Amino acid sequence: MKKIILTIIIVFGFLATTYLLYSYLMQIGVDEGYEPVQPIHFSHKIHAGDNQIDCKYCHSAARSSAVAGVPSLNVCMGCHNTISEYEGEEDLANGYTKDFYTAEIKKLYTAVGWDEQQFKYTGKEQAVEWIRIHKLPDFTYFNHSQHVTVAGLKCDACHGAVDKMEVVRQEAPLTMGWCVECHRTSKVNMEHPYYANYEQVHRQLAKTMQLDSLTVEHLGGLECAKCHY
Ligand code: HEC
Ligand code: HEC
Ligand code: HEC
Ligand code: HEC
Ligand code: HEC
Repeated sequence: MKKIILTIIIVFGFLATTYLLYSYLMQIGVDEGYEPVQPIHFSHKIHAGDNQIDCKYCHSAARSSAVAGVPSLNVCMGCHNTISEYEGEEDLANGYTKDFYTAEIKKLYTAVGWDEQQFKYTGKEQAVEWIRIHKLPDFTYFNHSQHVTVAGLKCDACHGAVDKMEVVRQEAPLTMGWCVECHRTSKVNMEHPYYANYEQVHRQLAKTMQLDSLTVEHLGGLECAKCHY
């Protein structure tokens, strides 16, 4: 009997320690700095930086929906049916030669089944599975358009200088503390048309606080149910 109780205590102790360690890691953001190798080497530095292609050209869904989305390969071919070779700058120290980059463009052709000699699609396609980098746990809710369109935040407020990244890296910890900290300190732009329908709330808030000092917290941005299912 004693042995059983002792075993239970040891097992429980082990589980508790593991859980605490796990929670601790969750809190500091285990994925921070995550930078996986993608099936096609896609350089944000070259596209969004050197060639100044707007983030929303490829991630257009960020404006109007919860997810920002990764563009379909058709979007790539809008440019790459004519850009078949890389002529830009090299980064020899890291092994990024012109030949390296050109070979990556050919991977795109293989994936969409593009015959560059005949200038037509062969119909033979191979799916490209981009590896997801930023990912909140399933029990949380995040909406891009709320932040990008309503709050008017730039992508770099949360993703860092992606236009300088050769390979995308997760810069923010994406922890609850990170969300909450910004909601405590960010002022809300009450002049935004989004709030035109909330006249009543508007007036009520104005009675107790100055409108120009309202933070996301005052709107309820720290309420559990706003971010948790
Ligand atoms: C020409 C198209 C294109 C442009 C322009 C572009 N992206 Fe991307 N983006 C992609 C593709 C393709 C991926 C998936 C491959 C990868 O992670 O590099 C991606 C991935 C990302 C990711 C990681 C997604 C994840 O899985 O977590 C972020 C964040 C991102 N882009 C932000 C930006 C920002 C910010 C800009 C503007 C500075 C931008 N992108 C411009 C095509 C583009
Ligand atoms: C307020 C912070 C914030 C801003 C601003 C923001 N993002 Fe994100 N982004 C996130 C978070 C958090 C995730 C993870 C979401 C999840 O897992 O549900 C994410 C995920 C992504 C992803 C991968 C998942 C998806 O939704 O497709 C892409 C791509 C992305 N962001 C691109 C962008 C681009 C482009 C912009 C600017 C137009 C932008 N983000 C602005 C916080 C932000
Ligand atoms: C708006 C035009 C445009 C779109 C859309 C576009 N590219 Fe590019 N891409 C370029 C330009 C410009 C270069 C640089 C060419 C040069 O400097 O010679 C380039 C370079 C490249 C390279 C070599 C450098 C690198 O990033 O590794 C690859 C691979 C590539 N593109 C893949 C893609 C993929 C995959 C997509 C779709 C997700 C895409 N491109 C979408 C314009 C575009
Ligand atoms: C602004 C958004 C936001 C609000 C408000 C918020 N949370 Fe969270 N919460 C998150 C995110 C994002 C995560 C996942 C990342 C993490 O674990 O830090 C999370 C994680 C959690 C977890 C799991 C923690 C872990 O370590 O596994 C619990 C429990 C939780 N929240 C409870 C709450 C409670 C209770 C409230 C209300 C008092 C609340 N949250 C309010 C965004 C929020
Ligand atoms: C860089 C600052 C910033 C970060 C980081 C941020 N938010 Fe926000 N968030 C805002 C702002 C500003 C608003 C107000 C937008 C508006 O005017 O409705 C907002 C609004 C929201 C709302 C709507 C709140 C309401 O009361 O209607 C939710 C839900 C939300 N954010 C979830 C999240 C989650 C989940 C995270 C973390 C994964 C996060 N936010 C990270 C700035 C941020």
